[in-house]
Amino acid sequence: SPSFAIAPALLAWYDAHARSLPWRAPPGAPPPDPYRVWLSEVMLQQTTVAAVGPYFERFTRRWPTIADLAAADEAEIMAAWAGLGYYSRARNLVACAREVVRLGGFPSTEADLRKLPGLGAYTAAAVAAIAFGEAAVVVDANVERVVARLFAITDPLPGARPAIREATATITPPVRAGDFAQAMMDLGATVCTVRSPRCLLCPLRGACRAEAAGIAEALPAKTPK
Ligand code: ADE
Repeated sequence: SPSFAIAPALLAWYDAHARSLPWRAPPGAPPPDPYRVWLSEVMLQQTTVAAVGPYFERFTRRWPTIADLAAADEAEIMAAWAGLGYYSRARNLVACAREVVRLGGFPSTEADLRKLPGLGAYTAAAVAAIAFGEAAVVVDANVERVVARLFAITDPLPGARPAIREATATITPPVRAGDFAQAMMDLGATVCTVRSPRCLLCPLRGACRAEAAGIAEALPAKTPK
């Protein structure tokens, strides 16, 4: 089954095709400031990459460090958040910033990050991988689709989630874990798309079981509502 060959092929693709996003370090560069990683990942929960860009730029210009954000007036942060929606995220943002400052900095492991206000399983794993290089298993909707196809996991969502997570763990490399996670996201966003996946352009084509079976477009299946 797909495993060892995946990460090198995907990372080579990422080196050439990574999207240039304001919160990212270039592929292979030292990881970005955990504050910027955390802020971007919270903003990206339920909001598109395109919509988040200008908000991220505005926030980081106004509050360049987490200490600045922690010292800010909550009402000002809420006002700057306006338009992003899901306002509980903004309230958790302030609470989290204050807790991180109280701790003297960001915790550096997935397990400790998970304890912070507003950090769910996805966000804790993403920050651990992208900011700290931990080989955490990072699964968002894009990754879910890529992995369901790679392994031809035909069970419908949401029931297939544990199998998808396990499969993701088997291909997550011990090095460049943050680049790997973001490469999976970019592949899902630009190549392994929901409709009309561009399999001819995919660096993982030779390893993809769904492509071999001609069923990529049908995965992941969903339990009818
Ligand atoms: N969606 C959520 N986090 C992301 C990231 N770091 N890069 C691209 N898309 C994302």
